[in-house]
Amino acid sequence: MLSQPTDGSVIAFSAICTHQGWVVKPGGGEFDCPCHQSRFNGATGEVIDGPAPSPLKKIPVRVTNGVVLAGP
Ligand code: FES
Repeated sequence: MLSQPTDGSVIAFSAICTHQGWVVKPGGGEFDCPCHQSRFNGATGEVIDGPAPSPLKKIPVRVTNGVVLAGP
């Protein structure tokens, strides 16, 4: 999952919920898990609410010529 909290700043997160591994979905500036309703901050991946015990895992990305690439 990609997030762009500010222009030119792209952050990637694993879409796997840290509770029981369902796939989270983006919406309203958050990532929400449809399984047990955990909610994650769309800019930081931190848990906002729910049973998820930890933030979404960050994935290193870089932007080159307007393309988001995985890796540092
Ligand atoms: S698997 Fe996401 S809240 Fe339970």
